[in-house]
Amino acid sequence: MTTRFLTGITTTGTPHLGNYVGAIRPALADSQHANSDAFYFLADYHALIKCDDPARIARSRLEIAATWLACGLDPARVTFYRQSDIPEIPELQWILTCVTAKGLLNRAHAYKAAVEQNVASGEDPDAAITAGLYMYPVLMSADILIFNANKIPVGRDQVQHIEMARDVAQRFNHLYGQAWRTAGGEGEPFTLPEAAIEESVATLPGLDGRKMSKSYNNTIPLFEGGSRATREAIAKIVTDSRAPGEPKDPDSSSLFAIFRAFAGDAESAAFRDALVHGMGWGEAKQRLCVRIEQEVAPLRAHYDQLMAHPDAIEAALLEGATKARTIAMPRLALLRRTVGLGALAAPTRKAKATRKAARRARIVSFRDAAGFRFRLLGTDGEELLLSRAFADPRGAGQASRAFAAGGADKALVALDSTRFGFVDADGTLAESAGFADTAARDAALGRARAALATLREDA
Ligand code: TRP
Repeated sequence: MTTRFLTGITTTGTPHLGNYVGAIRPALADSQHANSDAFYFLADYHALIKCDDPARIARSRLEIAATWLACGLDPARVTFYRQSDIPEIPELQWILTCVTAKGLLNRAHAYKAAVEQNVASGEDPDAAITAGLYMYPVLMSADILIFNANKIPVGRDQVQHIEMARDVAQRFNHLYGQAWRTAGGEGEPFTLPEAAIEESVATLPGLDGRKMSKSYNNTIPLFEGGSRATREAIAKIVTDSRAPGEPKDPDSSSLFAIFRAFAGDAESAAFRDALVHGMGWGEAKQRLCVRIEQEVAPLRAHYDQLMAHPDAIEAALLEGATKARTIAMPRLALLRRTVGLGALAAPTRKAKATRKAARRARIVSFRDAAGFRFRLLGTDGEELLLSRAFADPRGAGQASRAFAAGGADKALVALDSTRFGFVDADGTLAESAGFADTAARDAALGRARAALATLREDA
């Protein structure tokens, strides 16, 4: 089976050398593998969350599309498209929104950070926070789930979003798996995606030694501004004040780290040696410039040519959208039927019967030597959680009602690598048994979430 890779690039800003080394170059290397089926797209709906300047969005889309094509993305091998050309994505987003726990979105890092910043500066917690920022993870889930992608190459900051996409997919599969099959679908509606983090790709330091990032204003441009802009930026790399002839420490130098991102082992060793033996920073910058240009100049020539012909880029993207929609349209049609939004038809008895017969999760109270407790049993009778003991039945009853009523998504957490539990303000209310490994624990945690969800529907 082929693995489907999918990743989105938010279209704000102009690509810099850090984007090239950290994302573009490794992604394109991955897409060369024979068995891979890669989807790359311009996340331009996501861009609207961060930026309300139409000219900047438009320019960034063009620059980013031209950059990926110039760096060797082959639209014949890879499915390359714009998010905003696929109307099935926002449609699926709404369907997913309706199964996504609000509490899950409350915990998204980007939203939480914005709230915390407001609180810290004495503002209203939601000041200047749009619903777009809040919904960001659901849009991203739709990007991934509409194509049933398996692996999502992303930076660490995005891992939580992939986990949320898994959660949302799991919840939908649980609620609608049967309906999906009744509507003619095979297996489960959604494949559970996984984050793929490139461990070997180091983050490139910027001019000041911190991670190269637009927000630090320490970047070296990739193509824009030509070789001159590259040279001028390199001249600004911060170095220590050692004079030519004095030995330099390559390992504390961002200049050397940047060189290494472009050179092979032998070349890097020679550069290191030269620094240790007193090569001046001026000469080092000169050599770095030459080395970067060796790789970047031919790509830049291609980039300039593409930028002069936006129509050709537009055509490639529209073709990519057609390819992507060949998959997205029939999937969305089936998903619409699954949730009950297909063409009108006489109600079937069978559908009613299956619903009634579907077994529900249960909470069972009991008493043992330690006191009064309850268990959460899954739809197939599996014991998922066992509560702590209460001194009297009233306490246990109250706790079990609170447990069933809400906050479950927030409170169900891994306790260690083999167990999970339900944690509230008073501590651990209920614990799972121990599982063989983290994967088994997570699978059971998923079943517990699903069981709690059915309890709340019953309530
Ligand atoms: N949020 C991602 C980022 O800022 C971009 C993105 C949008 C994405 N949709 C995606 C990445 C789907 C992977 C999969 O980097």
